[in-house]
Amino acid sequence: MEQTLLIIKPDATARRLTGEILCRIERSGFVVKQLRLMRLTSEMARKFYAVHEGKPFLDALCAFMASGPIVPMVLEKENAITDLRALIGATDPAEAACGTLRYEIGENVQRNSVHASDSAESAASEIPFFFEQE
Ligand code: RTP
Ligand code: MG
Repeated sequence: MEQTLLIIKPDATARRLTGEILCRIERSGFVVKQLRLMRLTSEMARKFYAVHEGKPFLDALCAFMASGPIVPMVLEKENAITDLRALIGATDPAEAACGTLRYEIGENVQRNSVHASDSAESAASEIPFFFEQE
């Protein structure tokens, strides 16, 4: 079994899509192992997105991630990391495949509704950012 981190972003909590996203995740075979509702400061967002230091979109991304409630969660499934990336779709909802979460609910390349760990290394550092070891 593999674990990964999903974050429901502020654009989705603002539109009250948390339940719909959770429903789709559970129907796709993921087990919710840990979950919380919280707000980030832009400083916390900057720490979380340290991998993007120097990128032109980082300031706007951190302001967006601090703009409202987020729902980080640990999901478990075989091949969870790859399968969750497939379920959420491409970063830009306009380029995301039909049927993916970002295609269906993402607003634009920044307000794309969800974050998911992109590798085993990312999951291993991103899960402890939000959750204690179980
Ligand atoms: P995520 O980390 O949120 O799962 O998304 P991702 O891997 O598909 O995309 P990544 O390249 O890691 O970018 C992180 C987040 O930054 C925002 N972004 N804005 N051109 C832009 O304005 C731009 N590019 C990326 C998005 O919110 C993206 O999810
Ligand atoms: Mg990423």
